[in-house]
Amino acid sequence: MTDHMPDDLTAAGRDLRAYTDQLRPKYPIVKNSAGDWVLLRHAEVVQAAQNHEHFSSNVSRYLQIPNGLDGEEHTQYRAIIDRYLSREALTPYVTTFEQIARHLVDELPRGEPVDAVHDIGAVFAVRAQCAWLGWPAQLEPELLAWMSANHRATRSGEHEQMAQVAETFDAIIRSVIAPRRAAGDQAPDDVTTQLCRDRIHDRLLSEAELVSILRNWTGGDLGSIALCVGVIVEYLVRHPDYARRLRIASDAEVEAAIDEILRLDNPFISNRRITTCPVNIGGQNIPSGATVKLNWTSANRDENVFNHNTFDPVAHAKNNLVYGIGKHVCPGRLLATWQLRIATRALLAGASSLSFAESQSLERETAPVGGFHKVRVILS
Ligand code: HEM
Repeated sequence: MTDHMPDDLTAAGRDLRAYTDQLRPKYPIVKNSAGDWVLLRHAEVVQAAQNHEHFSSNVSRYLQIPNGLDGEEHTQYRAIIDRYLSREALTPYVTTFEQIARHLVDELPRGEPVDAVHDIGAVFAVRAQCAWLGWPAQLEPELLAWMSANHRATRSGEHEQMAQVAETFDAIIRSVIAPRRAAGDQAPDDVTTQLCRDRIHDRLLSEAELVSILRNWTGGDLGSIALCVGVIVEYLVRHPDYARRLRIASDAEVEAAIDEILRLDNPFISNRRITTCPVNIGGQNIPSGATVKLNWTSANRDENVFNHNTFDPVAHAKNNLVYGIGKHVCPGRLLATWQLRIATRALLAGASSLSFAESQSLERETAPVGGFHKVRVILS
């Protein structure tokens, strides 16, 4: 508990997964150097994520739809968003995602190092997301450059740099909204146009609302998908027998395997909440107005819940928190799951074997980012 906490709680420069593994058995909740309360165990993370009254999601001064909203307002926007991410809405895009993945794997060089995070994950994420949203393929270099700048800004922790990167991204989004709004009935029939015509309270969504929604569907998620691909590839190279088994497994089995691989090494580390009143959680008193971090990565490795972190996709599925829990649970779960399954299958089908590059094959990310910065592999 806090009175026995170690002196140095600065996560900067550390591998967060290793660091929280070290802290969690002794400290269910820690207060970090920024003064945020970090929940490290499964029980408290689930409790806070499901207690929407005492743990508000209204943590930012920027408009964040739907993740920064609470209560009825959140429910109303969330209903709009869920329609675009349902099984029915996403099914027509599967063939396109498969073509993108196949083409990308075919293009990769054989016998020389390829970085699974940047050369596979990031490129696939950008192409798949552009295809889904109807964004022009010419945006690919701009979006990839933005992902790198965003990553650098996040790692630097500099607010000004982060604000600048956010502004660049908003400009990209406005560049796809404006022509659709101007074209009226002549606008292309795609997800972005449908969203531009969507309504809340009997009025069209405003530009600020559209930018916020599209930012949430792309901004963080491109990076998350890229990091997830890195984690999955690293696991498959380390477990060639399992990779061989997945080549002939059903889609459902591959998806369950991916969820479990990501549970053990969840690169999407945490989300924030703010307490609306004094709370007691895990025996810890936390004052009103405090920032609380739900550390999904740590909770997903709680040895008491996941049988000492053995690999067991079936047994661990019900407690897996990779996509969160509660009202804010990820609406993009199906899209992410399908994209990751499709990318994994394409890689397994397109390369008879995967091995680590001889030198500098792995570089882990450090706080506040999770997963790997680089996973250099050789396809043959
Ligand atoms: C592997 C990739 C992904 C991971 C690991 C992930 C994880 C998460 C998690 C843990 C949350 C809960 C946040 C919270 O409780 O505060 C969340 C929320 C959210 N995710 Fe994802 N996500 C991924 C991909 C996507 C994709 C592809 C989309 C959309 C295209 C998406 C859209 C969202 C949105 C809009 C929210 C906010 C939901 C709300 O506040 O009601 N995510 N995601």
